[in-house]
Amino acid sequence: MRTSTVSVVLLGVLGEALSLPCTGTTSLKYEAEQQGILIGSGATNPAYLNDPKFAAVLSREFKSISPENELKWTFVNPWEGYYNWTALDRLVHFAHEHDMIIKGHGLISGCCNPDYILNITEPEVLHAALTSHFEAVMHRYADSMDRWDVVSEALEPMGGGLQANFFYNISGPGYIADAFRIARAADPKAKLFLNENLVETYANKRQELYDLVSGLVAEGVPIDGIALQMHITEVAPEPGVITSMVRSYNELGLEVSIAELDVHTLNSTLQAEIYGAVMRESLAAGITDIGFWGFTDKHLYTWLPGAKPLIFNETYYPKAAYYATHAALADFNSHVESDLVSHPAL
Ligand code: XIL
Repeated sequence: MRTSTVSVVLLGVLGEALSLPCTGTTSLKYEAEQQGILIGSGATNPAYLNDPKFAAVLSREFKSISPENELKWTFVNPWEGYYNWTALDRLVHFAHEHDMIIKGHGLISGCCNPDYILNITEPEVLHAALTSHFEAVMHRYADSMDRWDVVSEALEPMGGGLQANFFYNISGPGYIADAFRIARAADPKAKLFLNENLVETYANKRQELYDLVSGLVAEGVPIDGIALQMHITEVAPEPGVITSMVRSYNELGLEVSIAELDVHTLNSTLQAEIYGAVMRESLAAGITDIGFWGFTDKHLYTWLPGAKPLIFNETYYPKAAYYATHAALADFNSHVESDLVSHPAL
């Protein structure tokens, strides 16, 4: 029996025990692992793990997870010197049990900052607070989280310069470089990402991000990559845009990942097409780390009323979007395999 057949049979047995809907395919994780692709589901609020079906589908289909809000400042460190690790520890425990990678999402984000931080008025005091916060969080999870979103959403949503968020208002544009330097010192072996949205949509914002990041690289700021959120509303990125972003950041020596892919539309056919197109172009461009912002519409996050942006429905049935994603991964495998057959030296 081929390994993929064994996997389908085993998934069937597991599914029956929990009465989980069967996908009738190999898992996304199986297809991804064949080619060293990391496929993941972010936005994992640890409370969702209380649902055994959620936990079973998550660990069956995905190899990486990230917290949703639990690592954002006010959730983990609401008062000076006080840390509540309960939620993050639970996620880490689940990841270890299931041999999964866990991404540290949310070190600096515009939202979710506690009053004791928002009351700071001096750059030196903010630098000290960032240092002790990053050290506490990154040291605790140094053996569990190997990549971090150090700064999220540095730019205005539709472009137009750096967001005048709290950190910018106190420390100026240098807060970004400062955050990366603090993060590198706190965990020298971790990969450090800048997480940004809508650059696949707005050409002006795409250029601004490139200018910002190439400036950081030129200054020697320790940054390893760009995490594209890739929250899509109705319209797919223009073909070629993902590829050219990957090329330009690779030339700077940086990696590009997809951190939060989801597709917000009321049209499920269009949704599946967009998932398929983004997956295909991202894989062909050489992106090896792709995550979704959740996987079941039971726990969705959307700004489009009525949209169900994820690849499984509320009761864990795979949607057309799942099969489009799966086909992109499986086709990518067979292309690479056939290349290897015709060019064995590769
Ligand atoms: C979202 C969460 O999913 C929501 O629960 C919260 O109310 C707002 O933040 N990009 C990000 C994530 O980087 O942290 C955001 O998460 C979604 C957009």
